[in-house]
Amino acid sequence: MRFLLLGATGQIGRLLVPKLLQDGHELTALVRDASAASDLAEIGVQLAEGDLENTFDEAVAKGYDAVIFTAGSGASTGKDKTLTVDLWGAVQAVRYCERHSTPRFVMISALKAQDPNQGKEAIKPYLVAKHAADEILKASKLDYTILRPGRLSDEPETGTIRAASRLDDFNGVISRANVAESIRQCLNHESTIGKTIDLLDGDTPIPQALSRVGEANT
Ligand SMILES: NC(=O)c1ccc[n+]([C@@H]2O[C@H](COP(=O)([O-])OP(=O)(O)OC[C@H]3O[C@@H](n4cnc5c(N)ncnc54)[C@H](OP(=O)(O)O)[C@@H]3O)[C@@H](O)[C@H]2O)c1
Repeated sequence: MRFLLLGATGQIGRLLVPKLLQDGHELTALVRDASAASDLAEIGVQLAEGDLENTFDEAVAKGYDAVIFTAGSGASTGKDKTLTVDLWGAVQAVRYCERHSTPRFVMISALKAQDPNQGKEAIKPYLVAKHAADEILKASKLDYTILRPGRLSDEPETGTIRAASRLDDFNGVISRANVAESIRQCLNHESTIGKTIDLLDGDTPIPQALSRVGEANT
């Protein structure tokens, strides 16, 4: 399948790329600076230059089976970038997918985006941006999966997580590697379509944890 990755040069993105290549997919990465992504090109990822804060319609117009959004403005930028990257970048991506008949969208959101009032004041604007982008994706015609990881760590992949439509362990952590594997499994399992899934590190193998979401008490 053909996928467009938004955020491929990020920490989750760089863990996800080899997994998807290994699965035989054709990958294009939207990058702000192609010279900083030559390592991706060397392993077979096609590069499309573009910026989430501006128009990137042309990149999506090339035709993909799915768009995967792992981009983020990061903790060191201000609220302006929260609006223009985390919200506007995501909203534009959803609109372009609708316009160009890209059927599938996997969004990396954040644990407390379901209820931004649960977040500390400092991250509330970020959670509001993620909440709004998620609502726009849910209201679209796209086959979406929204993954809402807790605080990210750089621990190695365990292949096991906790996943549910709502996890109230707001201080919980998940490794970026487990998030990357969860994205891969979502793309392989249609049962995740139309679901919004909170994610933390846990004890259940990722495919089982994801497929159980929506059953009673999950
Ligand atoms: N940190 C946490 O604890 C936490 C918790 C829950 C969810 N999340 C979410 O997890 C996701 C990714 O995490 P991560 O650790 O992989 O982030 P990261 O390493 O900071 O990667 C961010 C990615 O977004 C790209 N990006 C930023 N601004 C862009 C723009 N204007 N146009 C195009 N690309 C842009 C970056 O590209 P460049 O290489 O050009 O900078 C990079 O590829 C984000 O959606 C974040 O909101 C984070």
